[in-house]
Amino acid sequence: MLLQNEDRAEDILQRVKEIWMGNTALLATTTSLVFLLLCWIIRDSIKIKNVHEKYVLITGCDTGFGNLLAQRLHRKGFGVIAACFTEKGCQELIACTSPSMKTVILNVTNPKSIDEAVQFVAAETGSKGLYGLVNNAGRATPIGPTDWLDMEDFHRVLDVNLIGLIEVTLKFLPLLKKAKGRVVNVASVMGRLAFGGGGYSLSKWGVESFSDSLRRDMQHFGVRVSIIEPGFFKTGVTNLEVIEKDLNRLWNRLTPDVKTAYGEKYFDNYLKVQKLSMNTFCDADISKVTNCMEHALTARFPRTRYGAGWDAKFFWLPLSYAPAAVADIMLKLLLPRPTGIKKSLAKNQIDV
Ligand SMILES: NC(=O)c1ccc[n+]([C@@H]2O[C@H](COP(=O)([O-])OP(=O)(O)OC[C@H]3O[C@@H](n4cnc5c(N)ncnc54)[C@H](OP(=O)(O)O)[C@@H]3O)[C@@H](O)[C@H]2O)c1
Ligand SMILES: *[C@@H]1O[C@H](CO)[C@@H](O)[C@H](O)[C@H]1NC(C)=O
Repeated sequence: MLLQNEDRAEDILQRVKEIWMGNTALLATTTSLVFLLLCWIIRDSIKIKNVHEKYVLITGCDTGFGNLLAQRLHRKGFGVIAACFTEKGCQELIACTSPSMKTVILNVTNPKSIDEAVQFVAAETGSKGLYGLVNNAGRATPIGPTDWLDMEDFHRVLDVNLIGLIEVTLKFLPLLKKAKGRVVNVASVMGRLAFGGGGYSLSKWGVESFSDSLRRDMQHFGVRVSIIEPGFFKTGVTNLEVIEKDLNRLWNRLTPDVKTAYGEKYFDNYLKVQKLSMNTFCDADISKVTNCMEHALTARFPRTRYGAGWDAKFFWLPLSYAPAAVADIMLKLLLPRPTGIKKSLAKNQIDV
């Protein structure tokens, strides 16, 4: 009887020991993780000093993210040089901020225009150099099913979003090295998950890889590089009117064969889907994006990538890590299907 009790006591002791040991490991892991997370949060929130002595050039400041960022950094005391595509953009920005806001006209597809902007910035910044370059200028159209597009359509987007961005960066690098500055490149979730057809996704994948190479090459010179990956926001590039007008142009110039394969209803459905997805996905609060840009410029330790917006964080970026088959199914659900394929195949068979 006594022996039995001793056995049971030993059993219980053993069980308690096991659970306790298990819990210690669990406790240790949790504590370490919380500690690491706290360290990261503190590290992430340390800010740089003396923003008043720092110059930042932002491209595409006429509207959208660039425009808001210019205003915000100006208010913070940065020496902002806002590069606008148009004279009107420059004037409007000065009117809504103050005459101390510096602006310059910059067409990123025009080498001469870039050279002139470099000269202007070099003169403005003097011995300090350029602390920040935000490559924000961009365009989305022409965008649409791949077989609706020609080379000219691809060039129009790639020349601005990728080639223009590369040329601007290369030409400003000497000034950025001088200030041990930062490059902030605006990519997109469409630079992680390609859909929509045309130069847009291509250009943003290019921005991702150009930025990765640049970051690895420039770390030796103290120049840091961050990539912003916004989801969908209400701005010029997601303007339905512009997108629909261009889709009309593409649809109207299609050959009858291609049109038949897609079916007459396809175009209307495609427009409907565009409208629906732009209206449901597009976030009006573009400060979610400029907050990321500000962090990349003002944090002591800028992050490499910033997913901006709920849709980016919880839908597009996770989907970009999913197996291609899963992403294909999701995108197939989102986009309409061509309805005339059978008809057009039958016709081709008769032709042959
Ligand atoms: N909005 C979104 O959902 C979203 C999502 C992911 C990434 N992005 C990216 O964010 C960046 C900013 O776009 P946004 O959304 O703020 O749209 P936006 O309001 O259209 O801003 C883009 C600006 O770039 C200018 N631009 C166009 N071509 C140019 C050129 N050749 N040289 C210089 N500037 C030029 C545009 O001028 P015009 O208006 O006169 O053409 C416009 O002011 C773009 O790179 C875009 O691809 C946007
Ligand atoms: C921008 O530069 C390109 C290339 O030189 C030119 O074709 C285009 O017309 C320019 N755009 C504007 C608005 O000046």
